[in-house]
Amino acid sequence: MAGEIHQHLAGDHRRLEALLARAVIDPENIDPAAYAGFRAGLLRHIGMEEKVLLPAAQKLSGAPLPLAAKLRLDHGALAALLVPPPTETIVTAIRIILEKHDPIEEDEGGIYDQAEGAAGGEAGAVLSRLKNFPDVKVLPHVDNDLVMNAARRALARAGHDVKV
Ligand SMILES: [Fe+2]
Ligand SMILES: [Fe+2]
Repeated sequence: MAGEIHQHLAGDHRRLEALLARAVIDPENIDPAAYAGFRAGLLRHIGMEEKVLLPAAQKLSGAPLPLAAKLRLDHGALAALLVPPPTETIVTAIRIILEKHDPIEEDEGGIYDQAEGAAGGEAGAVLSRLKNFPDVKVLPHVDNDLVMNAARRALARAGHDVKV
C-alpha cells in the first residue's frame, strides 16, 4: 500500500483533475471559477513538489532523484501554460502533459515512492510540511505572443511535441 506522502499527493492529483474536468464541461466556455481553482491548486502542488518533496528526498538520500530534472521541466511547461488565459488548445496541452507526468510520480516505485523511501523516519515531518505548504500568489493572466512563445519553448525543453 502506498505511503502517506504518496497518498496525499496522488489525492491532490485527483482533486486537480476533477477541477479541470469541471472547468471544461463546455470547452468553448471555460468555467472561470473552476479554472482559477485548478490554476491556483496546480501552482501550489508544483510548489509542494519543488520546494518540499524533491529537496527533502535529495537531502535525505544524498542525491537528486533520477527523474527530478525531467519533472522540473514538466513543471516549467505547466506553469508557462497557466500564464495565458485558458483556451481549449491550452487545456488540452496541460492534460497531455499531466497524463504523462502524474504516472511518473504515482506509479509503483515512482517518484512519490522513492521520495517516501528516502524520507524514511522523516516521512511524517515531510508530510506535515506538504500539508502546511502555503497558497501561492497567483498573478493575473497575460495574453500576448511573448507568453505563448515562452510556453512553446518550455514545452520543447520538456520534450513535449504539443502545439499551442
Ligand atoms: Fe509534478
Ligand atoms: Fe504531482
